[in-house]
This record gives sequence, structure tokens and C-alpha cells, in this order.
Amino acid sequence: MIFSLELPSDDQYRDFQTLALNKLGLSLGNDKAYLLRGRLQRRMTTLGINNYGDYLELIMASSGAEELQHFINAITTTKTGFFREREHFDWLSQDIFPKLKKSLTGAPGQKIRLWSAGCSSGQEAYSLAITALEAFRDELDSGLDLKILGTDINTDALAMARSGAYPAEALDSLSGLKRDIYFKRGNPPDDQLHCADKRLMQLIDFRQLNLLQQEYPIATRFHVILCRNVFYYFDPIPRQRVLERLSTYLVEGGWLVFSLTEIGYEIAGLVKIRGNLFQRRAS
Ligand SMILES: C[S@@+](CC[C@H](N)C(=O)[O-])C[C@H]1O[C@@H](n2cnc3c(N)ncnc32)[C@H](O)[C@@H]1O
Repeated sequence: MIFSLELPSDDQYRDFQTLALNKLGLSLGNDKAYLLRGRLQRRMTTLGINNYGDYLELIMASSGAEELQHFINAITTTKTGFFREREHFDWLSQDIFPKLKKSLTGAPGQKIRLWSAGCSSGQEAYSLAITALEAFRDELDSGLDLKILGTDINTDALAMARSGAYPAEALDSLSGLKRDIYFKRGNPPDDQLHCADKRLMQLIDFRQLNLLQQEYPIATRFHVILCRNVFYYFDPIPRQRVLERLSTYLVEGGWLVFSLTEIGYEIAGLVKIRGNLFQRRAS
């Protein structure tokens, strides 16, 4: 049975705002108490807690790391889709990947690195994998080392990403051809799910990463970083810190890409090519 939860008191709401800001960089507006209640209802019911103060105490307890993760999973917005904002994938396949291809000399051990930062349940990373697989087919056959990193803070989303298994409706934004080539219906009892081909799965490494954390355990530099639809609800101060951190993960000539509607950022060391598109130029 789902409890009917009251709204949090002003003090309790302020504590949730502080928590979201400190742990995620998220700015929970003063008008989002209903949203918070909706997001926490299921989790608090599962725990049998109907008081926000008790729930906050549980998260803040020294043993509360696991509950903090449930809280994060509940409040992050994970809406995504295959080939969402298709323009970016067209730009990669028509402009950026052909240029990268030309820069490859055929020497052994050449690498291409792509990063879906804030990958949610993986559709963005799989869309990158399909686009890259189609662009670099011959080079991959000749030993090109191409890898895609997918990171997110939400462990539920990452579990789906790692499974590579999606309900049929999630595949609606794929053309019939791509669906047939890259996804196969699962075997019972998973026959309602469509599973990504292992050629895609082999290209992608999914890892948990909080973009806010001090150090990223990532040694690689990337040719393209997609970080789309992640910063909408970020507070501007942590957002700027993360933008500048992300910029340090680009190779010279590498690209940092935001959502089509995310414009207005400025990032030291990067050139803004279009509203949502930044490049690290050779120094
Ligand atoms: C709306 S989804 C966008 C997914 C995908 N990039 C797209 O455009 O379709 C935003 C993702 O950012 C993740 N996110 C939010 N704050 C984060 C943080 N501090 N560190 C890492 N990921 C975060 C959320 O968990 C969520 O999966």
C-alpha cells in the first residue's frame, strides 16, 4: 500500500534542498516540494516511513550511504532515448567521424575515445556506438581501438544500461533497419525485451560517476564528450566547476556537446563553435 504523504515542512524541504545541492549539484527550486514528494513516495512507502524528518535522518546517518543512493536514484531525472536530438548523431556521422577517420594513419594501437557523461539508462551511449560502428567499420576490422565510456550517478539507470535490454517502445526512435541489425528480442522470460548486439556492448564501458566528485578516476582523454540534458537543474556554481573539469578531458581538437537547448555556457580554454558545441583548439 502506498502512503499518502504530506508535503515536507519548510525546514525539511530546506534540508532536502541542501542535500541535493551538496551531493548532486542539483538546485531544487522552492516550488518543487510536490515534485519531491512524488519522487520519494514509493521509496518511503517501501521503508514504511511516513515522516520526512525520519527519512532525512536515515540518509544522514553514518550508515546511510545506501539510502543516499536510493534518494539520488529517486530524484534524478533520467528521461532519454535512442538518437535523441538526432542532429548531433548526423553531425558526428557526416562531419566529425569522417575527419577523425582521415586523421588515422593506420598505425597499430590508434585510439578513438567517446564519452556519454550523464548517460542515464544507456540509450545515448548505444546511439554513439551504432554511429561509430557504422563510421569506422573497416578501421575496426583492422584493429582500431574504439571505446565508449558511459557514466551516470543513478545506479538503477546504469543497471539498465549495462543490461542492454530495452522494452519495445524504447526502440521506437530507431529506424526499423537499425532495430533489426542491432537489437534482438530476448528469450523467454525476457521476450518482451530487446537486447543490444554484443558488438555494441563490447564497445561500451558503463561506470558510476558523480560529476560533482573531486577526482574522476578516468585517465583517458576523449575526442567527443556528450553531456546533454544533465545540467538543466544544476546550480550555476557547481555547473561551472563541472564544465571546466569536463573540458580537461578533451584531446586537442576534441568536442564537448550539450543539448540543443542548452546555450549560454562559457568554458575557459574551449572555443564555442555554436550555442551547444565547444572545441578544444590546439594550444
Ligand atoms: C535527463 S538525463 C539525460 C540523459 C542523456 N544524456 C540524454 O540526453 O538523453 C540526465 C542524467 O544526468 C544524470 N545526473 C544528474 N546529476 C548528475 C551528477 N551529479 N553526476 C552524474 N550524473 C548526473 C542523471 O542521473 C540522469 O541520468
